[in-house]
Amino acid sequence: MNHFDYKNGVLCAEDVPLDALARAAGTPLYVYSSATLTRHYKVFVQALPADALIAFSVKANGNLGVLKTLARLGAGADVVSGGELKKARAAGIPADKIVFSGVGKTEAEMRLALEEGIYQFNVESEPELLALNRIASAMGKRAPITLRVNPDVDAKTHAKITTGTAETKFGIPFDHAREVYAKAASLPGIAVVGVDVHIGSQITELDPFEAAFRRVHGLVQDLRADGHAINRLDLGGGLGVPYELNNNPPPDPSAYGAMVTNVTRDLGCRLIFEPGRLIAANAGVLLSEVIYVKHGDAKNFLIIDAGMNDLIRPALYDSHHEIHGDLVAIMSAGAYGAVMASAYNARPPAAEVLVAGDEWSVVRSRLTHDELIAQDSIPAWLAD
Ligand code: LLP
Repeated sequence: MNHFDYKNGVLCAEDVPLDALARAAGTPLYVYSSATLTRHYKVFVQALPADALIAFSVKANGNLGVLKTLARLGAGADVVSGGELKKARAAGIPADKIVFSGVGKTEAEMRLALEEGIYQFNVESEPELLALNRIASAMGKRAPITLRVNPDVDAKTHAKITTGTAETKFGIPFDHAREVYAKAASLPGIAVVGVDVHIGSQITELDPFEAAFRRVHGLVQDLRADGHAINRLDLGGGLGVPYELNNNPPPDPSAYGAMVTNVTRDLGCRLIFEPGRLIAANAGVLLSEVIYVKHGDAKNFLIIDAGMNDLIRPALYDSHHEIHGDLVAIMSAGAYGAVMASAYNARPPAAEVLVAGDEWSVVRSRLTHDELIAQDSIPAWLAD
């Protein structure tokens, strides 16, 4: 459910008519609904054990207005860079609710995260583990870690967003996990706290999740037998959302939560989740205006003022987004929309607006051409 509905024939975000918003703030324009963000977050929380940490995956939508909305509800953050970590902190998300994922953490980013005192690092490789140990030791700290394991389970989603099979770069191969845990336990700058798994995104069936979580369950038992104190299970994100009105909706959070509880309850671990799309996708639309209707021999085209620089998903993943109205509202664009925008074709990326009831505010302004050009510079040897 979302809060983009027709009222008197006009599509609205909550109580704000989108045509008025387009006139006031211009197009292309991302519009986010606070009520939908809030609803999605609460539905997910209610589906899970009370002490679970819901760490919103900032890569899905890093707008400060969106992050602050979620922070106020008690959300944590899953970050994959120093930039995302700083954004999460700037939005008021406490460090002890932040987990740091990603295969390419740099030393500077690790140092920053240790200084902040984040909840945990999800370590993805042995070289990363050694680097983190070195940095934490030099700072006189112990870094709380999980190892992200790769369970070799096919998430049955788009190939470009599948991360839990053996041929991907993500996580530590399952069969090596025990030896890397043994290594981790021997390092003075490392404190082993749990296990992490994330198998992909826009997953529309529970089976792949369940297969991965059952493998992880077995691993936790083995690791405990090896003497590790495994108290946390980070089960990643990945639960899919409905993009099409007429398709079979993906399993709802309550079914996902029941499955998770059933598989993991006896371990007594604190559960951590990293939802991104589930919270944000259907909480945002991209508003765009038709500029031309172009008749071709084989097809007719609506030429609109939003381009692939504003929303790259259809070009990159063959993804489907519903479209409403004369003023075009491209639906389900709240996750992996604005964050993946670029200035391709020297087009300033879309501005962003957050709506709450009948209020709205520009939460990301549109760059002017001058500001866009000012990001480049001409080398001295080419100067006139
Ligand atoms: N945790 C980790 C470690 C991740 O890599 C991701 C997403 C998430 C959590 C959040 O997954 P979600 O709950 O949103 O499915 N650009 C693509 C999606 C890439 C997802 C990458 N990882 C798209 O536009 O569909």
